[in-house]
Amino acid sequence: MKKHTFIRSSVRQAVAVTAFVACAGLAGTAAVAQSVSNDDPELAFNGHCRECHAFDKDDNRIGPTLYGVVGRKAGTVPGFAYSDSVKDSGITWDEKTLDQWIKNPNAVIPGNNMGVIFSGLPDAQERAKIIAFLKSDTKKPGSQ
Ligand code: HEC
Repeated sequence: MKKHTFIRSSVRQAVAVTAFVACAGLAGTAAVAQSVSNDDPELAFNGHCRECHAFDKDDNRIGPTLYGVVGRKAGTVPGFAYSDSVKDSGITWDEKTLDQWIKNPNAVIPGNNMGVIFSGLPDAQERAKIIAFLKSDTKKPGSQ
């Protein structure tokens, strides 16, 4: 557990650096982003999403919990203050809509609140890992 926590915090640091470099518009972004990449799908989720999303039932942070998100209607986690855009989108999250959303939230649902603070993840491999993680844990019965 301790080791896990350490890995998470170092990944977060790497993400912070990536975000900084991306903001500065420097060419080093790809190299830094690569250091975040890993074969473990959970690490991909930790690196790109956990900053704002938990994966435990009822645990809403800056974003709603992503527990059970695959197959869920958008904007329906109780107790989370969604934008009207997400609530009224009519989307049910599946592999395809999630992939498009992670790539560029504003292209899928204009006026959403995530796109304001997360510009999207261009790396298709990282997106695939994250979706695999969301699916695998969603299937686990009683997973908290
Ligand atoms: C900087 C914060 C932030 C990051 C990073 C972030 N999100 Fe979000 N996310 C949000 C917010 C805020 C919302 C709510 C959007 C709204 O209501 O308009 C949201 C909403 C969502 C939703 C819709 C959930 C629902 O119940 O309808 C999904 C799916 C999602 N995010 C997936 C992801 C994934 C996967 C990642 C990582 C690649 C990610 N997000 C990274 C802040 C973030």
